[in-house]
Amino acid sequence: MNDILPDEVGRWQELETAFRVHAELHGFAEVRTPVIEATELFARQIGETTDVVEKEMYSFERHDDRLTVRPEGTAGAARAFVEHAVAGQRPVSRWWYLGPMFRGERPAKGRYRQFWQAGCEHYGDVGPVADAEMIDFVVGFFQRIGISDLTTHVSSLGSGDTHARFRQAVFDFLAPKRASLSDDSQRRLDKNPLRILDSKDPRDREAVLGGPSILELLDGDDLAHWNGLRRHLDALGVRYVVDPTLVRGLDYYTRTLFEVKTSMGDLGAQNTLAGGGRYDNMIEGLGGPKVPAIGFAMGIERVLSVAPLRARERGPVCWVAPMGDAAIDGALRFARDLRKLGVAAEVDGRGGKLKAMLRRAETAGARFCVIFGESELARGVCAVKDLAARTQDEVPLEDAAAIVADRIVTPRTAPTEAGAIDAGASDAPRGAR
Ligand code: HAM
Repeated sequence: MNDILPDEVGRWQELETAFRVHAELHGFAEVRTPVIEATELFARQIGETTDVVEKEMYSFERHDDRLTVRPEGTAGAARAFVEHAVAGQRPVSRWWYLGPMFRGERPAKGRYRQFWQAGCEHYGDVGPVADAEMIDFVVGFFQRIGISDLTTHVSSLGSGDTHARFRQAVFDFLAPKRASLSDDSQRRLDKNPLRILDSKDPRDREAVLGGPSILELLDGDDLAHWNGLRRHLDALGVRYVVDPTLVRGLDYYTRTLFEVKTSMGDLGAQNTLAGGGRYDNMIEGLGGPKVPAIGFAMGIERVLSVAPLRARERGPVCWVAPMGDAAIDGALRFARDLRKLGVAAEVDGRGGKLKAMLRRAETAGARFCVIFGESELARGVCAVKDLAARTQDEVPLEDAAAIVADRIVTPRTAPTEAGAIDAGASDAPRGAR
């Protein structure tokens, strides 16, 4: 679990803003659900025999409730969707979310126990148009924030009957090799053989080689959906790899599955930036109507480790330097007036010589230093030093805040290196560089 200190948080904010803008451009609205849900929700939806549920959830009991700190966002969003009968209010809903998730995994580079996800869920569209748009959303977002090296893996798990036939085919293929499987997989063979396909254990990796491919079993509507997805992706110019070995670690998926990976940075085996897929049975499984859904989530730490995003520079625009006790009250009032005008100001209460205050102003990155000295106060003025232009003049005390605010004509947008997005600028103080 990581601390994100103020020096790092600027890049997080850039990513969050970019994600919000991108999601809203695609018609998604934000949803915020609790960080804690009933354990049963995750156990049922993610699947009792998945690694997440068997080994990784942070679960506890309180007031007779069995609770879990969410390992992912899809189940909680679906629970909210059903609980608030959203399907009855509108036929299609598009939600996005961003927040911390918790999985007690073995820590590694790019794999943490508290990690952050940004994700989307789209309810009410059977696809494959929605599926293609979702994949295009993810790839487009990564390109937008400057991640150029991407590989998109897609597959289909089929649904209902195809899914059942695939399970049987995997079971038939692996049953004769039972003894060579890892302990976990021997146990899962009878309950959930598909989970063996994404086992990381070298014995299991060896055993699954040459096994059945789900894509060869697809037929009827499943095949039409799969072909439709590929056609729409081609039309959108999204490049992808058909990867029948893709199974993903969660049980709720039906039909479309996808993952977006990068070879940028040093993420090694943790190079999957985002993963998602269709889960057409979850809403009904939670007691809601039959509403199909598709979604994805990206790991923010992983994305930030490769994205060339730069924090918007912040810091006080105006450093307020009271020289001596008599000047402090006026300096405090001036700073407050300045902030009311939207200019960030910091009062240097440490005292000392002017030279030291100016040094602190420059270290803080301030544009102006306003000096409240004894002789100036006696004349009803303060000195305004423009630290960039290296000029200084005196202004009347009563107009000082308005005058300094007026001098700030710095552009209000500060493009990121990736260039595209600057939606947060309107919230920034005037003169933020
Ligand atoms: P997931 O593949 O488990 O899917 O996680 C999505 C992404 O979260 C991963 O691709 C990875 O970038 C990041 N991630 C997962 N675990 C960790 C970890 N321990 N440390 C750092 N990053 C991690 C889901 O969670 C599904 N809910 C996605 C989804 C939404 N499917 C449909 N809708």
